[in-house]
Amino acid sequence: MPVSTRPATLADLDAINAIYNHYVEHSTCTYQTVPSTAQERHDWFDAHGPEHPVIVAEENGQITGWGSLSRFHPRQAYCHSVEDSIYLHHEHQGKGLGSLLLGQLLRMAKEIGHHTVLGGIDADQKGSIALHAKFGFEKVSHLKEVGFKQGRWLDVIWMQKML
Ligand SMILES: CC(C)(COP(=O)(O)OP(=O)(O)OC[C@H]1O[C@@H](n2cnc3c(N)ncnc32)[C@H](O)[C@@H]1OP(=O)(O)O)[C@@H](O)C(=O)NCCC(=O)NCCS
Repeated sequence: MPVSTRPATLADLDAINAIYNHYVEHSTCTYQTVPSTAQERHDWFDAHGPEHPVIVAEENGQITGWGSLSRFHPRQAYCHSVEDSIYLHHEHQGKGLGSLLLGQLLRMAKEIGHHTVLGGIDADQKGSIALHAKFGFEKVSHLKEVGFKQGRWLDVIWMQKML
């Protein structure tokens, strides 16, 4: 069965959390250092409404990745700006799933009426940078040593796409 994307449901949250927590523990692609609990993931999902969708990629009944659009900043005047997140099951990288999810999120962002999409990316994450560049995101900032994980300082770049 080919891979497809669809809106996430409550039943997907355990799979979403397991995919994400792998990177919390093993990677600097997220600056979270303590795994999310099931309750925290539930609260996160509740905070995403129709304007801030969560989608999953599904293949043969297995959730192989997820993506979301979140508020860029809580202050009201930022309400037309969103931040994207995409996390694939670590055994499913490098075969186009990230492109499938980001393409879908960008179509949804435009339909919803958002104005711009931003990605905050650890500067060493070549895959994420390449993925965003492929979809027309441009690097707009480079923040030096704002993170500290796995015993070292980490730079963050921001990439932005106007819709
Ligand atoms: C980043 C991530 C979402 C990319 O998804 P993916 O399915 O592996 O990427 P794709 O296969 O769709 O590749 C997209 C483009 O990036 C390129 N690319 C992917 N990984 C790369 C890497 N490690 N180095 C250089 N280029 C890379 C591909 O060649 C492709 O370009 P092309 O279509 O012009 O050949 C995925 O690797 C992932 O989940 N990583 C861990 C979590 C993470 O970093 N998430 C991003 C935080 S927002």
